[in-house]
Amino acid sequence: MALEIFKIKGGTSLNGKVTVSGSKNAALPIIASTILSDGKSIIKSVPRLSDIEVLCSLMQSLGCKTNFQNDCVEIDSAVIDNPVGEYEIVRKMRASICILGPLLARCGRAQISMPGGCAIGYRPVDIHLRGLEAMGANIELKNGYIFAKAPSAGLKGANIFLGGAFGSSVLATANVLCAAVMAKGRTIIEYAACEPEITDLVDCLIKMGADIKGRGSPRLIIEGVKKLKPADHTVIPDRIEAGTFMASALATKGALEIQNCRCEDMMAVVDKLREMGAKMQCKKNSCLVAFDSKINPVDITTLPYPGFPTDLQAQFMIALALAKGNSVITEKIFPDRFMHVPELNRMGANLRKEGQSIIISGVKKLTAAPVMASDLRASAALVIAAIAAAGETIINRIYHIDRGYEKIETKLNAVGAKIQRLDV
Ligand code: UD1
Repeated sequence: MALEIFKIKGGTSLNGKVTVSGSKNAALPIIASTILSDGKSIIKSVPRLSDIEVLCSLMQSLGCKTNFQNDCVEIDSAVIDNPVGEYEIVRKMRASICILGPLLARCGRAQISMPGGCAIGYRPVDIHLRGLEAMGANIELKNGYIFAKAPSAGLKGANIFLGGAFGSSVLATANVLCAAVMAKGRTIIEYAACEPEITDLVDCLIKMGADIKGRGSPRLIIEGVKKLKPADHTVIPDRIEAGTFMASALATKGALEIQNCRCEDMMAVVDKLREMGAKMQCKKNSCLVAFDSKINPVDITTLPYPGFPTDLQAQFMIALALAKGNSVITEKIFPDRFMHVPELNRMGANLRKEGQSIIISGVKKLTAAPVMASDLRASAALVIAAIAAAGETIINRIYHIDRGYEKIETKLNAVGAKIQRLDV
């Protein structure tokens, strides 16, 4: 298979209008939650990304029919006769674990390949399993698979504390929530993730007939119901894609009008941008980000929502690498998520790792270099760095970026970037 690369001619500033797609991280658990009903669901504003296609093929392997046209995914989950997430599909995307809770609730059993490590470090699934066990599930790990089985009388409601060593877990909350909506009795999830993607899942489940209180809070109270209707839901805009555009406006000293953007989902990011010197105008469904002076250095610590998202850490590192002074970025969610740092140093940044932090000494400019994308968000950071840098940068392994950014080069080229996708 031919590998694609980006050839980016840097030194341009980004100006104009750019539109954000639907959220990948909201769409994934929402599509998985349609397993809970036995009818035809329709999910709209779904980004066309390889991760979504992987989930659709996983859903098909379970027995569902899926049809992904434009930005709509239709799922017919009338028949689910093979509640098994095979290694061959799950290995392509860790987030495949989001079928575990819905499958267990629907079929009373599920078998799914245990997700492995990935480029951003060790990523266990103990919180998911602990939550499902509290509802009576029997879990066994064998031959690289998770075997989960509900008691013969079905899952039962429980009081569940879902915190882990690094705080709440987004997909563990999604899994336990989906298992709880059809369990017998009341479930209380303490330390639920509060990310807007979880709130979007809650909204979708409520429309399907679930009884959930505490929307948006760390305490979700769920009264189990017998049956859910098929879903008809529009996914929220992708706050990480919006934040990536914001960071690129800053790093290239440009001005972007970002459409389909909900600033209320990203106040930690808006606040940091203002501190860095950006002029921000948040509107109902869009945001103006303009920048023309020196970037102020700031300290950023990634935290669960409503804190600064780990998924924007790498992209903001580029703007801070070009700031006037020293900044510190501390990673509190994935302590090893710094694969982009050596690549950025090769482009002239001055970054030094100290434990879970990166000390950033601002430089006047970045310069082009051949670099390697290592994971999804790190690749977005390299694209921003390449647009900001003088000269021509080659980014290898861009399949990572296609997992999470819809038409990235088309969108960025329309506002002044010079990105070419080439087969090598
Ligand atoms: C989701 C997002 C991902 C984002 C991450 C953190 C999706 C598809 N992916 O991933 O883009 O970077 O949230 O915002 O929505 N942990 C455990 N045990 C577990 C589960 C998690 O210790 O069972 C730890 C993780 O290693 C990490 C922290 O908890 O340190 C948060 O991870 P989690 O919220 O679970 O990430 P995901 O839901 O996998």
